[in-house]
Amino acid sequence: MNRVLIAPSLLAADFSNLHHEVQAVHQAGADWLHLDMMDGHFVPNLSFGPLVVQKLAGGALPLDVHLMVTNPAEYLQPVKKLQAHSMVVHVEACVHLQRLLSAIRAEGMLAGVALNPSTSPEFLEYVKDDLDIVLVMTVNPGFGGQAFLSSMLPKIKRVRQLVGSQPRITVDGGVGENNAKALVEAGADVLVAGNSVFSQADYAAAIAALRPL
Ligand code: DX5
Ligand code: ZN
Repeated sequence: MNRVLIAPSLLAADFSNLHHEVQAVHQAGADWLHLDMMDGHFVPNLSFGPLVVQKLAGGALPLDVHLMVTNPAEYLQPVKKLQAHSMVVHVEACVHLQRLLSAIRAEGMLAGVALNPSTSPEFLEYVKDDLDIVLVMTVNPGFGGQAFLSSMLPKIKRVRQLVGSQPRITVDGGVGENNAKALVEAGADVLVAGNSVFSQADYAAAIAALRPL
């Protein structure tokens, strides 16, 4: 099994002090930095895009870009320019998913596919050789601080059965100390954490609390 990684989500950080926040979670032991890009169409919210992330430059953490946009293919080059580690696109926004996943890999990034809570994972059977990451949304995307949907636990198990042991399974939304262990037992190996890290005074303690025993 892959080592479990903790990916704080910048969406929950103090936007008036982003540079400091990125440095702080890095020093606190984060493995990846999760970046939620939203367009106000795919989800009913706007966050930030590649331009803002570019200004943050210099962060040594691998950048995990989660695109909640209707036209993810158009972000391939802007995200590549950020030297992102991974680019995760929603299957619900991709007419030609296999083509886009191949293009992401061809640009030297890990290719990820995200599933809304109501999306069946069965389609993964046909793209399992083309992906490096499956992101299971454990809330409806668009906002931080929502309650975890426990109905997603069996779905994570099903995703693990479908894709095998190699791809990473990221869980995103409502992840915290109370459910981290169950999520890892179900097959997740990347825990995205927004409020459960950034709402705490001690980021290092918050990240450590998410690591399963
Ligand atoms: C929601 C985003 C999440 C969000 C998670 O659409 O994809 O990454 O930041 O926030 P928490 O961990 O607070 O639920
Ligand atoms: Zn996300």
